Amino acid sequence: MKGNIFLHVVLSWLLLAVSADTEDTEPSIEVDGNGYLIFCLCMGRFGNQAEHFLGGLAFAKAVNRTLILPSWRTYKNIPFTDWFKIEKLAQYHRVILAEDFMRDLAPTVWPPGQRTGFCFSFDENTECKMKEGNPFGPFWDELGVNFDSMKAFTVAYHEPERWVQRFSPSEYPVVALKGAPASFPMATEHRALQQYMEWSDSIVEQGQRYIQQNFPGRKYVGIHLRNGPDWEKACGHLEGGLSSFMASPQCINPRSSEKVTQEICFPSTDIILSQIKEHVEETGATVVYVATDKNPLIHEIGSHLADLKVSVFHQDPWLPQLDLYILGEADHFIGNCVSSFTSFVARARTVHNKPTSFWAVR
Ligand SMILES: *[C@@H]1O[C@H](CO)[C@@H](O)[C@H](O)[C@H]1NC(C)=O
Repeated sequence: MKGNIFLHVVLSWLLLAVSADTEDTEPSIEVDGNGYLIFCLCMGRFGNQAEHFLGGLAFAKAVNRTLILPSWRTYKNIPFTDWFKIEKLAQYHRVILAEDFMRDLAPTVWPPGQRTGFCFSFDENTECKMKEGNPFGPFWDELGVNFDSMKAFTVAYHEPERWVQRFSPSEYPVVALKGAPASFPMATEHRALQQYMEWSDSIVEQGQRYIQQNFPGRKYVGIHLRNGPDWEKACGHLEGGLSSFMASPQCINPRSSEKVTQEICFPSTDIILSQIKEHVEETGATVVYVATDKNPLIHEIGSHLADLKVSVFHQDPWLPQLDLYILGEADHFIGNCVSSFTSFVARARTVHNKPTSFWAVR
């Protein structure tokens, strides 16, 4: 018995030694002969950037180039892996972190002097202006990229086969695009790619710390209230209803006869309170967690649910991603159908079969 264990230990030690040895002799990073793709997530805040990212991820796979994971944009570049795990994305397609690519591969694969920027346009004479304005300029500056030339192309992103012919990897080992090769709102068929977006350990730790410190082990309903003045103004365009408005395809099929109304976009406090109560009763929750850009309605919710002994929590986290994480973990989530911030939470919850509903949508 003892002898067997000893033998086993020696054998595993030998195996370890052998595999460590082979790793040493391999080059640290291989160059992808099928080329690389990078683009700026230069539109809007995180919710919009995430929708663009998933569309761009699908496109990178369709054209079979390694996706250089763009930094997220706040007032500065945030490395992709600060918020999400690269290992999970790699299960779907070949990816490399932009900061790693610039340090390890760009000097040989994409050296200064050979950096072309591309943008889609119906007119090939369009000037691309890759770095004009914010966040375009700061995004590339922070990655240390200057463009030696810029070219417009006319092949649309929904034609990956033609696109591959236009951009051969031997001629263009790296294709840098001005914007994401994706639509907004995102294509419905790309929503499932959310399964490859797994929060980084740091986000999970910070989100869990808040939950453990404030309402450990209690059931909670998470809600997203989009009610700032900019939003109220935007919702004003919905008089009479539209078939599609911003992220609304997440809950209303644009080809159906249903309309996105002002009420869905900017629900009244009465609607909000009655929907919260319904789901608090249904789930047996004793906590409501509120994420908002403006007014958390803490007192209104507290007094409406006074009989149910519900506590209301709201933080204005320095990282909106903490709100997204906490809403993702809730026993029920109620969000705004028109908002891409809500859409991120709703997609993440679908991955784990958690229920979501939307204000004023039945
Ligand atoms: C896609 O690219 C990878 C890596 O360069 C390559 O091994 C693979 O054969 C390519 N697939 C197709 C269908 O071309």
